[in-house]
Amino acid sequence: MTRNRASLALLPTLSWKRSLAKDLLAWYRRHARDLPWRRTRDPYAIWVSEIMLQQTQVATVIPYFARFMARFPTVEALASAAENDVLRYWEGLGYYRRARQLHRAAAVIVDEHGGQFPRELTAVSTLPGVGRYTAGAITSIAFDVRTPILEANTVRLLSRLAAFAGDPASGAGRQFLWQLAEAILPPKNCRSFNQALMELGSLVCTPRNPKCETCPVAGQCASLIGGRQHEIPRLRPKTPSEAVREAAVVVWRKDRVLLRRRTPGERWAGLWDFMRFELSARRGTALVDELLEKVRAQSGLAIEPPEPITTLKHGVTRFRITLQCYAARSLGRGKLSAGEWKWVDPAELEDFPLSVTGRKLGRLIAASEPPA
Ligand code: ADE
Repeated sequence: MTRNRASLALLPTLSWKRSLAKDLLAWYRRHARDLPWRRTRDPYAIWVSEIMLQQTQVATVIPYFARFMARFPTVEALASAAENDVLRYWEGLGYYRRARQLHRAAAVIVDEHGGQFPRELTAVSTLPGVGRYTAGAITSIAFDVRTPILEANTVRLLSRLAAFAGDPASGAGRQFLWQLAEAILPPKNCRSFNQALMELGSLVCTPRNPKCETCPVAGQCASLIGGRQHEIPRLRPKTPSEAVREAAVVVWRKDRVLLRRRTPGERWAGLWDFMRFELSARRGTALVDELLEKVRAQSGLAIEPPEPITTLKHGVTRFRITLQCYAARSLGRGKLSAGEWKWVDPAELEDFPLSVTGRKLGRLIAASEPPA
């Protein structure tokens, strides 16, 4: 690589780029994993896979992708589905906004593009939930267009190749890496080239202990040549996690339980849930009083004193949540507050998209008796 006066970091020469593309593509032909979305050129399927792969690992995505594509095989099928159904197929993947935006974007493709997935980068970029990375990934992988990509794996790989010692998440860092991602694209076969970059990043150029001894482009890696592959990219200090105590209360009326649809702006918007709220950190507060008070504040209902069912532990972003779960009968007084509510037979809970802990709790109560 040679110094480019226009940027603080380095941009590659033509011969460097040619060797990179040749060695990388040869490696990819031998080592590419056989992933379900690599068996198709259907832009719809590639789009679904890329949305699922945002923030989620390949191994987790594989079964979700198969089920989703079997249920919604075309953009028309997705556009005409109910949001509940789409969320049900997303259940457990997390970041549910992705599913809601995917659903909205399917309607845009049907209404504004006659059901044909757009090929233009600008049109793809304006779809809900599609940022610069995803637009580049879809257009390069589905249509073999020469568009750059930059995601976690390639940020690491490109930072190392260029020995970029700055912060890759800073404005200047991102600008440089996007510029580099564009500069290294070969004139053709960007479909394989971009996937090969991601594959090398995830299989060889790993965050810790990169496998430089088997790397096909080790000879072109400025970090390795300078012995700095363990220091680059520079990592941001992680925000420490925080312990939180929450309660879920399953409210019963006769043989039905109360569900509320979570509203836009809330965590898990669009999913259904039992009563759920954060518990006060003050240990002295009488827990039963707090539960009665918070159920009334959230639902408007008065309930009998709740009985403990179980405790579940889970994580949401940086929060480590201990969820204390209770069941209680409604006293039949009070009117439900504003919002979407349903009294549901526990056997029908399977039809509703729930969070992972909501599902665990739902299955537990479906298998047991209502409180006396
Ligand atoms: N991560 C994001 N997109 C990917 C893809 N298409 N293949 C493998 N890993 C990915």
